[in-house]
Amino acid sequence: MSKLGLFDLAVRYGKLTALANLSFTVAEGERLFISGPNGAGKSSLLGAISGAVKAAHGRVEMDGEILSGRAPEEIARRGLSMVPEGRRIFAGLTVQENLLVGTGQRRDRGAVADDLATVFDSFPILGERRHAPAGALSGGQQQMLAISRALMTNPKLMLVDEPSLGLAPKIVDEVYERLCALQALRGLTLVIVEQSSARAARVGGRMLLMRGGRIVADGDAAGFAAQDLLTEAYFGDAA
Ligand SMILES: Nc1ncnc2c1ncn2[C@@H]1O[C@H](COP(=O)(O)OP(=O)(O)O)[C@@H](O)[C@H]1O
Ligand SMILES: [Mg+2]
Repeated sequence: MSKLGLFDLAVRYGKLTALANLSFTVAEGERLFISGPNGAGKSSLLGAISGAVKAAHGRVEMDGEILSGRAPEEIARRGLSMVPEGRRIFAGLTVQENLLVGTGQRRDRGAVADDLATVFDSFPILGERRHAPAGALSGGQQQMLAISRALMTNPKLMLVDEPSLGLAPKIVDEVYERLCALQALRGLTLVIVEQSSARAARVGGRMLLMRGGRIVADGDAAGFAAQDLLTEAYFGDAA
């Protein structure tokens, strides 16, 4: 478990402000959805937390320690793991090789084998197909693989960018069932980018609604579904 704090965090790409001074905290063990239309700044937000995107201003803290300015590997060592948008698995490598990418520097080979066994316990299909090329897996299985790879560093806090992208609704149900089960089992703090606020409401948790690099609403996802705020965030004018 882990507590996260963002203070006045800003991201700019040249003249474009992708994130405008955001501040919020995420409690230990919380499930937080980030929703909002394309270009709202959701991925930039996750990137700024994980260290993949440089913040122009402000800071990120985890359990009271400042993460900003540290290298992504260092942030990962402190227990923060990221499942990137679009999964980014290596199609030509086997399932097991994909899981071992990034563990090459670790000296504790026994612990790595244990982590692998734990992942295969949670996702038996990945164990069965450990020697198959990852590109031969279905879309849903590839998403499970991307999640499993992030679990290999034993995170306390996991950031997941659009896990439902390109998957059939039934498969999305399955992915969220697994994510919620893992969260309960490991006491993870989860921050999930999910474009569908209806989906977030069904899964349950807190939801931040973003638009144009700002937070326009923050509350229980279930309470959002009927609100005009959503329509406004997705279709309204900037004014
Ligand atoms: N590497 C980049 N260089 C320049 N502009 C970017 C880059 N990444 C994202 N943007 C822009 O920043 C804004 C926010 O993008 P992003 O964080 O990807 O939003 P979302 O994930 O909500 O779709 C968009 O206007 C996007 O075009
Ligand atoms: Mg995105």
